[in-house]
Amino acid sequence: MATYLIDLSPDDMKRRLPEALRVYVDAMRYPRGTEDQRAALWLEHTRRAGWKCVAAVELNSPAPTLPEAGAGVVPTSSDLLDAPLQGIAYGYRGAPDQWWQQQVISGLQRIGTGPDRIAELMASYFELTELHIDPRAQGRGIGEALTRRLLTGRPESHVLLSTPEIYGEANRAWQLYRRLGFTDVIRGYHFAGDPRPFAILGRPLPL
Ligand SMILES: CC(C)(COP(=O)(O)OP(=O)(O)OC[C@H]1O[C@@H](n2cnc3c(N)ncnc32)[C@H](O)[C@@H]1OP(=O)(O)O)[C@@H](O)C(=O)NCCC(=O)NCCS
Repeated sequence: MATYLIDLSPDDMKRRLPEALRVYVDAMRYPRGTEDQRAALWLEHTRRAGWKCVAAVELNSPAPTLPEAGAGVVPTSSDLLDAPLQGIAYGYRGAPDQWWQQQVISGLQRIGTGPDRIAELMASYFELTELHIDPRAQGRGIGEALTRRLLTGRPESHVLLSTPEIYGEANRAWQLYRRLGFTDVIRGYHFAGDPRPFAILGRPLPL
């Protein structure tokens, strides 16, 4: 078996949405049924400016394997577009009408960030919205490879993301973000309607 990285178009995402959401629910260890709550939102995201989605798929073929995955592969190949999903990552350009941006601005104001700094942070960023690897495929570098592919060639000046706070930053997501040079923007932030504390992390682009 070999892992390949491919880009998904909005139509590909629509077609493969149940499978993509299954990877998300399994990776996050959310209860079954969470897929149904997220489906409409994920589809709406595909229509946002600057949306880009990359996926890792598994094919019964000898090569290439990571880190060369994707090299020489024709992304429109139907074999690849229908191969089982191992991981998914997507994001889009941040904009003032987005709930997430409004939440981040409130958080920045709450910690005393000045208006100039907030304007600078919000002016041009890519929101890395979702990044999930099937638990059976974690720990092999696929998350890092997807992140690098997703962030390659972006026009924005930096990337922002939110991730649940974990004691000691002791999980793969935190290890990956720190390894890629993400630094703290806000810590211990509570998004409206979610009791869990989150960190907002960011770094300049290109990666
Ligand atoms: C967070 C997550 C996306 C990271 O993806 P991943 O593929 O598991 O992780 P990485 O790309 O960091 O790779 C993991 C390991 O593979 C190693 N690796 C890197 N390149 C490699 C390669 N070419 N071949 C083999 N292993 C490699 C890394 O050194 C890393 O080792 P470590 O975990 O011991 O530090 C994934 O674990 C996941 O889906 N977790 C649950 C959901 C989640 O938390 N999502 C993020 C929410 S914000």
